[in-house]
Amino acid sequence: MDIEQIRADTPALAEIVYMNAAGAAISPEPIYNAMVFMLDEEARIGGYHTHYKYEQELEVDLYASVAKLINAKPSEIAIVENATIAWQKIFYSLALTWQKGDIILSSTLEYGANLVAFMHVKKLYGVETIVIPDNEHGEVDSDALDAQIEDLKSAGKKPVLIAISHMPSNNGLVQPAEAIGKIANKHKIIYLLDACQSIGQYPVNVKKIGCDYLTTTSRKFLRGPRGNGFLYASSQQLETIEPNTLDFFGAELDGANNYNLRKDARRFEDWENAYALRAGLHAACDYALDLGMHKIWKRSQIVSIKLRKAIAEIPNMHIADLGTIKSSIITCYHETKSSKQIRAFLEEEKIHLTLAGDHSAPWDGEKRKLPEKLRFSPHYYNNENDMDKLIEILKIAIQ
Ligand SMILES: Cc1ncc(COP(=O)(O)O)c(C=O)c1O
Repeated sequence: MDIEQIRADTPALAEIVYMNAAGAAISPEPIYNAMVFMLDEEARIGGYHTHYKYEQELEVDLYASVAKLINAKPSEIAIVENATIAWQKIFYSLALTWQKGDIILSSTLEYGANLVAFMHVKKLYGVETIVIPDNEHGEVDSDALDAQIEDLKSAGKKPVLIAISHMPSNNGLVQPAEAIGKIANKHKIIYLLDACQSIGQYPVNVKKIGCDYLTTTSRKFLRGPRGNGFLYASSQQLETIEPNTLDFFGAELDGANNYNLRKDARRFEDWENAYALRAGLHAACDYALDLGMHKIWKRSQIVSIKLRKAIAEIPNMHIADLGTIKSSIITCYHETKSSKQIRAFLEEEKIHLTLAGDHSAPWDGEKRKLPEKLRFSPHYYNNENDMDKLIEILKIAIQ
């Protein structure tokens, strides 16, 4: 990987130490330019005419690139406003088929917004969510999941969904997505993977993982724009799933009294869209594909392993990350100095990071009762200078 060239594509990286890919990574110029180009065209010839002019890119090539990124078919992809909407579209559509007493299985580190939806379907339909036991590394224990499903079935309960956040927002843990997929498929339970933090970081392969649905955003490790994301729905699931909301894009009107549901995953989309952002997503997928997802993962692992180790060596700093394999999300805290104070100091020195509070994984928050954490999320573009500066300033910040 030519890190100097990659950094030159993103001039801001020469000005700041950017450690917030898990929030929103900065787009390199080819991605930014793709969006500006589309906006310029809209300003020049009008929104509809821009769409007609770039129909091949926006309606065909974009879906091919997104699909290639995750080893899916273009017909299995829908592009929506964000990862939460993508997830909700699947979740609430599935919920239409659930009965009182049905069971959702999820992980301790599940994303906070998903927990709200779990509580919501409990209130609306009486569907309960049960947490899958963790193994000694804090990961979902796939053997325990298998046993848990057997027990539920013996008790006459129906598990209807396994919903897992692949790489949680507030912890460097990576869930064993493939092992979970094997159990889900063995028991024929629908498997929804929230891949918000893994797309653009890890070579996600939906066929290998065996998930039925996957949801994500553009703006994080993929380095695309804010304000869009996508979902994957497997061809098999598309044979039956009916979206919980539909407009006349998701379903074609057949006269005034009938409609025909679209055959592809775009039944989850609406008619009106932000095409400049879609051009950004397209450029982001192509940028990642050109670099190579395996190379991206390898490089981001080198950076994050090194940085996590250097932070761990600082006296009184504690790493909070769990798991056997760790993502490029590094969470840590100081024994006495608050993360808020440390962050403020680092930001003054142009080191950009965020805090990781319990709201992004409330069950984990209740279980571990840790103080608010610093969250550093480097990516393949961070270099030695970034890491050296971060460590140097962090040592001063905690004095
Ligand atoms: C694991 C996970 N899932 C879902 C989301 C929600 O993504 P969005 O803000 O695009 O809706 C996030 C955002 O941080 C996340 O980390």
